[in-house]
Amino acid sequence: MWEYSEKVLDHYRNPRNVGKIDDADLIGEAGSLACGDSLKLYIKLDGNIIKDAKFQTFGCGSAVASSSILTEMIIGRTLEEASKITNKDIADELDGLPQEKMHCSVMGHEALEDALKKYFGEDEVLEAEGHSHSGEKIICTCFNVTENQIWEAIKVNGLKTVEEVTNYTKAGGACGRCKGVIKDMIETYLKKEGKAQELTPTQKILKISKVIEQQISPQLQKDGGDIELIDIEGNVVKVKLTGMCSGCKNAAMTLKNFVETILKDKVDSAITVEQV
Ligand code: FES
Repeated sequence: MWEYSEKVLDHYRNPRNVGKIDDADLIGEAGSLACGDSLKLYIKLDGNIIKDAKFQTFGCGSAVASSSILTEMIIGRTLEEASKITNKDIADELDGLPQEKMHCSVMGHEALEDALKKYFGEDEVLEAEGHSHSGEKIICTCFNVTENQIWEAIKVNGLKTVEEVTNYTKAGGACGRCKGVIKDMIETYLKKEGKAQELTPTQKILKISKVIEQQISPQLQKDGGDIELIDIEGNVVKVKLTGMCSGCKNAAMTLKNFVETILKDKVDSAITVEQV
């Protein structure tokens, strides 16, 4: 049984600003009924100040509470101020949400972001929030979750596991096919932030083999080549290029620019690769 704060219960039992604004200036939508919950946020402006906000939601108690408190948080604020609100702010304002329900705060933030896009334009909203628009690449096709949504959830909430990402975005919560990509995204983020956990020698060896097998080898195979892992000594990875790659005049370049770059990026920046 999940523990809810008094504030969540209050906003669930007495939701504020429920309904529709017929002459709304901005409307934002998030979620989808196919995925279990959805939210529509209506905003009425006075200049660039949010004069009124209302919502309609189909979802659980946490979705109602998140939407309700969001309307209170944005009424009276300028659009610029509203654009700085994150899902973490929504959850904090509710005195927290159970981990498994954090996706409700994310849905609130996404509806707000969607509404603001219509005012500022997509790139400006994303820029104001500190991340760039790199396209709407879908990572989780089961729940239609984009790469940007996952980056944002990881970054804003400091997520460190795939399970946490699922709690916050739903991504990974059905067939699980996207879990590998999500795990890579978390590792990339932690590495960039210098928070990556030091791998034990055994973990490092396993990771190097996995990256070679799953990411490097399939790419080389496309050109009729392949790679064999021969040995690992500290940070020196000894490999043998095979097939078309073995006699290729660009073998040295392939090792440095492709194999070594991927291993540095995915495993450890201190890695060097040698052909044996
Ligand atoms: S693709 Fe993400 S759970 Fe199925």
